Amino acid sequence: MSRHVGADPLDRGRFPVDPWGLVEDSYQADDLGLTETLFSVANGYLGMRGNPEEGRPAYSNGTYVNGFHETWEIRHAEAAFGFARTGQTIVNVPDTKVLKVYVDDEPLTFGTSDLEQYERCLDFRDGVLRRSLVWRTPSGKRVRIDSTRMVSMTQRHLALMTVEVTMLSGDAPVVISSQILNRQDGRDEYHGRTAQGLVEHADPRKAGAFADRVLLPRMSYATEDRMLLGYQCANSGMTVAVAADHVLTTTDVHEVVARADDDQAKMVFRIDATEGTTTRLEKLVAYHSSRGVPVRELSDRCDRTLDRAGRHGVAHYLSDQRAWYSRFWQTADVEIATESPEDAAVQQAIRYNLFSLAQASARTDGIGVPAKGVTGSGYEGHYFWDTEVYVLPFLTYTSPEVARNALHFRSVMLPAARERAREMAQAGALYPWRTINGEEASAYYAAGTAQVHIDADIAYALMKYVRATDDRGFLLREGIDILVETARMWAELGFWRSNGEPSFHIHGVTGPDEYTTVVNNNLFTNVMARANLEEAAIAVDRIRTHDPEGWVKVASRLGITEEEVAEWQACADGMTIPFDEGLGIHPQDDFFLDREVWDLSQTPPETRPLLLHYHPLVIYRFQVLKQADVVLALFLQGDRFTLEEKRADFEYYDPITTGDSTLSAVVQSVIAAEVGYHEAALDYFHQALYVDLADLHGNTVDGLHVASTGGVWSALVYGFGGMRDYRGELSFDPRLPATWPSLTFRLCWRGSLLLVELTQDEARFSVVEGDAAVPVTVRGTSYVVGTDAPLVVALPDQGARIDGLLGDHPVIGGTRADGSTITAGVPEPIQPPEEPDATGELPVYAPDPSIMPPPRI
Ligand code: BGC
Repeated sequence: MSRHVGADPLDRGRFPVDPWGLVEDSYQADDLGLTETLFSVANGYLGMRGNPEEGRPAYSNGTYVNGFHETWEIRHAEAAFGFARTGQTIVNVPDTKVLKVYVDDEPLTFGTSDLEQYERCLDFRDGVLRRSLVWRTPSGKRVRIDSTRMVSMTQRHLALMTVEVTMLSGDAPVVISSQILNRQDGRDEYHGRTAQGLVEHADPRKAGAFADRVLLPRMSYATEDRMLLGYQCANSGMTVAVAADHVLTTTDVHEVVARADDDQAKMVFRIDATEGTTTRLEKLVAYHSSRGVPVRELSDRCDRTLDRAGRHGVAHYLSDQRAWYSRFWQTADVEIATESPEDAAVQQAIRYNLFSLAQASARTDGIGVPAKGVTGSGYEGHYFWDTEVYVLPFLTYTSPEVARNALHFRSVMLPAARERAREMAQAGALYPWRTINGEEASAYYAAGTAQVHIDADIAYALMKYVRATDDRGFLLREGIDILVETARMWAELGFWRSNGEPSFHIHGVTGPDEYTTVVNNNLFTNVMARANLEEAAIAVDRIRTHDPEGWVKVASRLGITEEEVAEWQACADGMTIPFDEGLGIHPQDDFFLDREVWDLSQTPPETRPLLLHYHPLVIYRFQVLKQADVVLALFLQGDRFTLEEKRADFEYYDPITTGDSTLSAVVQSVIAAEVGYHEAALDYFHQALYVDLADLHGNTVDGLHVASTGGVWSALVYGFGGMRDYRGELSFDPRLPATWPSLTFRLCWRGSLLLVELTQDEARFSVVEGDAAVPVTVRGTSYVVGTDAPLVVALPDQGARIDGLLGDHPVIGGTRADGSTITAGVPEPIQPPEEPDATGELPVYAPDPSIMPPPRI
């Protein structure tokens, strides 16, 4: 159901359109949490929220190292065998962003200081956050302060900051206090809790806070040369060391004072600043973390990173960073013609999403991509299927080596997944629904562990990568293990029923839609499992026939038998695919249509998302979706459905899909485009495009929605571009929005870079890098794009059109196959109090002690 977004929902008075940056030209304090997330700088390994250099005001001062987490025992009120036992929560690592400026001993403080000028910009061409302001101090002096912050793409442990202070009028003592601060353990330097800590909601999307000390001090020092803090997590035993060097450039008289204790290291620069001169301070910082290497060793690693950085200097890394981003945009950019201000705004937002993907994934270097990247603590820093289904298609086609790293990470997790399969009475490997360390961390099994489709999602992403890159070596060395072990899981999990034609069934699982749980024959799961089983059988067969040497290794490593390969194929062939003859649609599962419909057209917007206003059991009783489920299957396995089926399914599910998950809109956009709902496709695209920029789900404070950013790329390339890659064949059937003159993108395909330029009347393809021709199919006709000249195919139209949006008139009163009528209604919500009570106190939600880390604040 569409949540219709205006074409440009941003306040352009404050955030002017810029094709290559996110610019803010007036300071506002009422949405700090949002802008902190939006102005994050990150490289996938290290992320720093857009907090001010002064450290306050802040909603949440955050710095995150991907995978650096604390563990805690999940205490289930009613435990049962196999429940997730170990909670894993990303830890806020020591903050190095702090660079406070004092003039005449008065601090610069946002919100109270008198600012004559203010601007900050996050530049998509170099990933640098720049802030520039002119401050009129209480004594009437004017000071210009320019600062920059960058997390390096080329040296993933390195971040660089600079601050320049210029007295525009008058001389004054200027102090710059540079710090490393352990904020994780509760309080900031003013011993007050930041806004994030004030109220806890019953919101499963947020991470809780620990009350006990998490980071145990192991090392701290500050000298004029370097300062460092090192810690070990109390339970997980993970270690982290953070160090900083400084380079001060000034012609004025100055001195330096250094100090360190367990939670703070400080270097204070005191300068007798004279009018017109600029003092520049460079801060080079290093973060190293480990599962357990002693802090002493990490301190040595920090030394090496900083010694090298000192030799090269800030300018060197800035130039490397520009080169890195220039290469990134050469393959990853998606351009639309920007003839109107609306188009220019859309172009900026597209780039913001792509840039965020780079910041979330580029230097993960063999670990996962958390649901929020490294921009916030939402979802506790966990890895989900988001990576495989939403992020990996983008990476596969724009940075294949990063895709490979992410897949390698799943193969590193294979032993834990095997163990989990045993625990769940399964064969093969069962990947955890959410995790950091490879163990299942989903305390609520119905909407978590039961989503076994994660196995098939990983297999799906793996085969997409292998086909797009032809990286058979990776498949042979490690990919095949994932494919075989996941196929074994499916063959064991399902069972045969023999009334009539024998059919294969998978019971007791949850599909992507978390508003319907633990069901039999979830269509998405069955369709994806079928593909997983088939792919495993094909891959084994191919290795056996084409690579006898490789086969010997694979067969002995995995102990593959001919019988089991035949069984996978049989399970795939016999897979149950639910279909309701009465409604002419694919039911989401065996009993989905037995439920009554939740009438979203009559549901007050204040009760969204439903998960924050209704007990799960209330929601489970209805036909209502959190996110695309059948419709996602229509996209990922689209060659297994006819166009008529897709249209019927889309029309049935769209009005009952809330889109309460940000993973939904992009999928709805792709299928709307394919079946002909062009306006709906564009509308859903806008919802995804502005998810974070306009905070459409109200929780961007907790971090960016990385799956949605990946989905934006998919909506552009698969949706409007009409690209499909079934079984390794590239095809195009474009659906350019009527208001867009053109759409341009590039795809890495088996060593070549294919440029795709679409207009309203033609599709043009060129091989712009590499020397292999690329075969493509356009609207059913096969061509080869040679390396010497572009291929141009005329397009008489952009596919069939069905006008209007769905959702205003939900399909209610349909008749089931058994002749009964489906009715609709809306349950009465019980609203939690949201306003402060008479005492002015905000209500505090008491978290459920059974599933939260003990003790929590
Ligand atoms: C969605 C899941 C997703 C998770 C993390 C949930 O709201 O329902 O599909 O994996 O968020 O992004």
